Amino acid sequence: MGTYSLQEIHVEHNNAILQRDSPIILLFRALMPSAMAGKFTNAYDGSIKAEAYSKLTFPNCYYLAYRDLPEIIQKHVRGKEALDFGCGAGRSTRFLASLGFNAVGIDISPEMVRKAKDLDPKGDYRLVKDGDYSQFQPSAFDLLFCAFTFDNIPNHGNRVRMLKSLGDLLRKGGHAILLDSTPEIYWHEWTSFSNKDYPENRLAKSGGEVKIVTTDIEDREPVVDIIWFDDDYRKMFTEANLKLVETYKPLGKIDEPYQWINETKIPPWVIYVLMKP
Ligand SMILES: C[S@@+](CC[C@H](N)C(=O)[O-])C[C@H]1O[C@@H](n2cnc3c(N)ncnc32)[C@H](O)[C@@H]1O
Repeated sequence: MGTYSLQEIHVEHNNAILQRDSPIILLFRALMPSAMAGKFTNAYDGSIKAEAYSKLTFPNCYYLAYRDLPEIIQKHVRGKEALDFGCGAGRSTRFLASLGFNAVGIDISPEMVRKAKDLDPKGDYRLVKDGDYSQFQPSAFDLLFCAFTFDNIPNHGNRVRMLKSLGDLLRKGGHAILLDSTPEIYWHEWTSFSNKDYPENRLAKSGGEVKIVTTDIEDREPVVDIIWFDDDYRKMFTEANLKLVETYKPLGKIDEPYQWINETKIPPWVIYVLMKP
């Protein structure tokens, strides 16, 4: 059998070239574990997405993602030192700073970090190598914030290692807050996202690749995310030695000034609050 990668349009199979959406490919995708599915590349690494992200504020679904965070953070988090893992162009780091945190943003994308520094020259934004947080002291932070980062990270073992290393940077009793996509975000239409051209998303298993278009930015190229189901998140927390304290799934409200599509009945986001015991 030839090479197989979900990044590629074609698959070689017994010398035949199969279209990626043919029934055999859909079957393959449903049956293959993600780790075998080829190398995943960070969809946010590049100047086009960095430019788009630098212009993104909190429209539509992003409003919903961040809406309840000030209250959630106030309820759970004590202390002011925060690490923003996967800071992108700095939107989430600036959000933390607006709540009074001394926030450090880290990312593996040089373009994203460059944009973050351009937008907020006084902010602390740092490029990190994948999984290497050695520039930080253990127990240095009260809050580890990860907004839409873990739904970009493939491979369960890899996620556990990463979260464990990041957890080492939290003080005892410190909290990690993960804001991520629910599986449902990849199956329905939203004010900020469309998946209608990717019905195969419904076949993806936890840890598999899915495509989604962000309609709030000019760049309509889909990003390839990793769909992770709740069970795998919970497994990851246990294996990373972090205790799940609370889970939130914010829903849109009908009196909000947004043209909600499914947001009032299906939650596009999940917020996990974890504590370092
Ligand atoms: C969807 S963006 C979110 C950016 C930001 N948190 C926000 O809310 O605007 C996800 C970011 O995670 C970063 N990322 C993905 N994998 C990463 C990894 N292994 N380590 C650090 N950052 C990563 C990407 O480069 C991207 O900037």
